[in-house]
Amino acid sequence: MYRAKITAAAYHVPDRVVTNHDLAKVLDTSDEWIRTRTGIRERHFAARGESTSDLAAAAVKKLLKQRGIDAKEIDCIIVATVTPDMFFPSTACVLQEKIGASNAWGFDLSGACSGFLYALATGSQFVHSGAYGKVLVVGADLMTSILDPRDRNTYILFGDGAGVVLLEPTRPGERGIIDFLLRCDGSGGKYLRMPGGGSLHPASPDTIRRNMHVVHQDGRAVFKFAVQGMSDVSESILRRNHLCSSDVDLFVPHQANIRIIDASTEKLGLEQSKVVRNIDRFANTTAATIPIGLGESYEDRRLKKGDLVLLATFGAGFTSGSLLLRWTL
Ligand code: COA
Repeated sequence: MYRAKITAAAYHVPDRVVTNHDLAKVLDTSDEWIRTRTGIRERHFAARGESTSDLAAAAVKKLLKQRGIDAKEIDCIIVATVTPDMFFPSTACVLQEKIGASNAWGFDLSGACSGFLYALATGSQFVHSGAYGKVLVVGADLMTSILDPRDRNTYILFGDGAGVVLLEPTRPGERGIIDFLLRCDGSGGKYLRMPGGGSLHPASPDTIRRNMHVVHQDGRAVFKFAVQGMSDVSESILRRNHLCSSDVDLFVPHQANIRIIDASTEKLGLEQSKVVRNIDRFANTTAATIPIGLGESYEDRRLKKGDLVLLATFGAGFTSGSLLLRWTL
């Protein structure tokens, strides 16, 4: 029986840095408000004409170099995103062509901010079953393509970015991905969504007039779910694996608000030094926050061989999830 392990991790963010001070010039907000309410200082915004697959391709190219393999060796590509280049073809197909992964098939997965964990769990099963030896799992979002720049409630919260990991089979004695726990609760749909552009409300002058092609959010309702949801899935996965928070070496939570991260961490009883917090520099990059956190922690050598890593997320849906793994690099 094979298990899946992560054998490379990389990320890419666009060049342009937008600070809170920049936003305060065009919106009724301030650096102080954004920093104290969210923990965000700055974020990266894509250039005009740049797409989600461009960010993903840049991340994947770094990953292939890191692992020292050719794109032709990839068997399958899963792209978690809510901002695909277009409805179809899938961003995975666009990406496959851009990176030259001519032997891979792939598909997009829509799980909002939980998309990367959903995709990681899905990809791990292809390796676990023995079907594939090299699966790329990408989390990529170009949130600026679906934000209303006039809406201070949402525009300040998000950034653009992409992260990717490579899954391969473990060697004898290695653990790799140990367990995952994924949830969704569709009753939360109304609190965070982009209502226009799908089959229910196809794009029309009316949907544009009603501003339906951008993110709509009830921040307080999402906040409440987030703290409960993320700590609940984290506690549950530790409990069912007979582990406790002190066993965790690194916690990589979804980066949506520093207060959500801190509250969940406190509920879990985790030491602050074990928590990845990069929201100050990247804001919420939706499906990309966790793979960016992994990529950065690997690059900075914060992740060490043998570390027990806990990933946890929540997002639109509502969705939530956690995943436990042993770092093997
Ligand atoms: N700048 C200045 N003031 C702002 C503002 C901004 N960017 N956005 C909102 N405000 C104002 C509000 O209008 C409100 O004013 P009022 O009291 O006069 O009505 C006040 O600040 C407080 O707003 P509130 O929404 O209660 O703030 P909050 O403390 O709940 O913080 C969020 C708002 C969005 C930061 C917070 O609710 C949050 O992070 N929610 C979760 C969002 C999330 O994680 N989304 C992604 C999920 S994957």
